[in-house]
Amino acid sequence: MESIREEIQQLKKEKNAVILAHYYVPGEVQEIADYVGDSYYLSKMAKQTDADVIVFAGVAFMGESAKILNPDKMVLLPDEEADCAMAHMASAEKVRQMRSQYEDLAVVCYINSTAELKTVSDVCVTSSNAVEIVNALPNKNIFFIPDGNLAAYVAEQVPQKHVIRNDGYCPVHRAVGAGEVQKAKEAHPEALFLVHPECTKEVLALADFVGSTKGIIRFAEESDAKEFLVGTEEGVLYELRKNNPEKTFYSVMPGCCQDMKRVTLKKVLDCLKEEKHQVEMEEETRILAQKALDRMLELAK
Ligand code: 13P
Ligand code: SF4
Repeated sequence: MESIREEIQQLKKEKNAVILAHYYVPGEVQEIADYVGDSYYLSKMAKQTDADVIVFAGVAFMGESAKILNPDKMVLLPDEEADCAMAHMASAEKVRQMRSQYEDLAVVCYINSTAELKTVSDVCVTSSNAVEIVNALPNKNIFFIPDGNLAAYVAEQVPQKHVIRNDGYCPVHRAVGAGEVQKAKEAHPEALFLVHPECTKEVLALADFVGSTKGIIRFAEESDAKEFLVGTEEGVLYELRKNNPEKTFYSVMPGCCQDMKRVTLKKVLDCLKEEKHQVEMEEETRILAQKALDRMLELAK
């Protein structure tokens, strides 16, 4: 393992590469990354970096977003097959249909989406800025794709807007039910329940805090509580436990994101060494998708 880490560090220097990692990838990968964060933070870092090569330790839409924002850089994915199921759960056709139905409509696209979906959207959002951005839009009608659960959460937080939900979902976050959370609360009555807005509204109703992965990490750090139930992918426990050794964290999730777990240290090394799994896309797609991502970065400032 040590030699893999050393080789990665050596190659990073030689190639002027940077490693970005999402909180859901295995701890060993988070450990060697230059920047670890939620989707919003990582997209900002991807935009700001002056490295020549970006290794994106995450799933396909994350690498794609980095490429959209950095057409001249080489963007590498450690595992080409690592994909987000939800990213595909909307269609450009449905977006066109909604646009013809509503005059005053903004299409808001969760960053967990394909580049193609971004090209037909007005603005991207992440879980950490969706409420703020929807609030700031001039339009009354919002078609929110692909995540129906995040859309429902946003609709509740911004009641003055008419939010039309798409029926996509994250299989990992949808899998936890209110019954399981109730049981965990009974087993740990002192614990606060922190949850990601991709969970269902029944689960969100039981939460002490709802937020992005970074929001959850910040809340746990700032809280005086000593125990927490965590309602998001278990990868965040690595950062939570590292930063708060005196606090106890329990996951309520029945499973993990298998795609994020495909990203291993060895695959980070191999993609960097062989410059393989480069993210490529049509320039026309990239330019259109960039508009939606740039608008997010502008509105979320
Ligand atoms: P974040 O916006 O918190 O990074 O969440 C990304 C994600 O994939 C959640 O399932
Ligand atoms: Fe996609 Fe869900 Fe995995 Fe996040 S946890 S990358 S939304 S499948």
